[in-house]
Amino acid sequence: MADLLLGQVVSFQGDPFVQADAARHLANGAVLIDAGRIAAVGDAADLRARHPQARVHDYDRALISAGFVDAHVHYPQTAIIASWGKRLIDWLNTYTFPEEMRFADSAYADTIANRYLDLVLARGTTTVCTYATIHPASVDAIFTAAQSRGMRLYAGKTCMDRNAPAGLTDTAQSAYDDSKTLLQKWHGVGRLSYVITPRFSPTSTPEQLAALGALWREYPDCLMQTHLSEQLDEIAWVKDLFPQSRDYLDTYEAQGLLREGALYGHAIHLTEREKSRLIEAGASLIHCPTSNTFIGSGLFDMGLARHLRVGLATDTGGGSSFSMLRTMAAAYEVAQLRGQSLHPSQLWWLATQGSARALHADHQIGNIAVGMEADLAIIDLASTPAIAQATARAEDIWQAVFPTIMMGDDRAIAAVWVQGSNVKYS
Ligand code: GUN
Ligand code: ZN
Repeated sequence: MADLLLGQVVSFQGDPFVQADAARHLANGAVLIDAGRIAAVGDAADLRARHPQARVHDYDRALISAGFVDAHVHYPQTAIIASWGKRLIDWLNTYTFPEEMRFADSAYADTIANRYLDLVLARGTTTVCTYATIHPASVDAIFTAAQSRGMRLYAGKTCMDRNAPAGLTDTAQSAYDDSKTLLQKWHGVGRLSYVITPRFSPTSTPEQLAALGALWREYPDCLMQTHLSEQLDEIAWVKDLFPQSRDYLDTYEAQGLLREGALYGHAIHLTEREKSRLIEAGASLIHCPTSNTFIGSGLFDMGLARHLRVGLATDTGGGSSFSMLRTMAAAYEVAQLRGQSLHPSQLWWLATQGSARALHADHQIGNIAVGMEADLAIIDLASTPAIAQATARAEDIWQAVFPTIMMGDDRAIAAVWVQGSNVKYS
């Protein structure tokens, strides 16, 4: 039976970074869901009259939005989120690598994978693109957990063959072999996609990067994810490790790891050459604002969003939150510090359609339109007294949404729909 959701519907008919009126709002709107997809969008009274048999879910003044898309996370870092006092390299060595070692135990990987997806679904996130650990079973764990929830999800085995503890390294050959086996097992199975995942240049030899570049040539429709220019001492380290490279991006480009479908996390301290090559190549940059402030990395240049695909991400657990609302707030604050003011519709777009576009999935998820997969978040715009009193003064929908962006948390998520099924009830 079809479901008819009633509320305020927000969607996008374009990119609000290039087109100021790209956002659409239906104050008395409705979304019809049938067989896991959006079957109709329109005026509530009209759709009720045309679909009298549909099961009605009246969300009143709540917002009906596409579910959030978190374009860069490390699900294995769930348990070490909010670890105190370190910057990137120290943070990796002190907190991250010891925790990732625990994923040698596949039962532990299963536990964290399930816990992680429950945490993000409760926050309205319906798709993530995640790093696993070097252990193949950690990829099986997250794909299996996503499959049981019907989620569209992207993941890959993290590859590292140097500068990581024994027990957390593979080799160029085993990274290629294990990644290929996992790719053949999972890529395109239901809503799951495999992502080729060299962690970053400091932990991969040129041979390993080349092996993964070769794998990507064999499977060109896959995405490839890695990190780029997050902190200045990381960049200096890359310069030492790759004396023959022009810059950090060149360490990837030289091995076939730069083209459309490449996702670079952070990308803060870029040279002019790197920016123009990224734009020319059609790469995606993933902005991780809570991580960039929490680990002390720097301020991403949102001006780049006019020139290439930019996605938004929590970067759990370098990021300090599982919530895309909190992440939008941080993106707003970081942009303010750079003298850029992001409109609420731009923030919402980044967390939905922008991230979906960065993952080359904007034809499937991240928007409300006929034919799209029915992954939805229902947002209460008055979820706390502090938010309610600010929202009450709003003169338009985006003024009404902004207090929830800045102050909202999981209490604002009234319901979540995944592939047309209600997975979180209010
Ligand atoms: N660079 C390489 N690995 C990581 C990681 O796990 N988190 C963050 N924030 N940066 C990285
Ligand atoms: Zn990361």
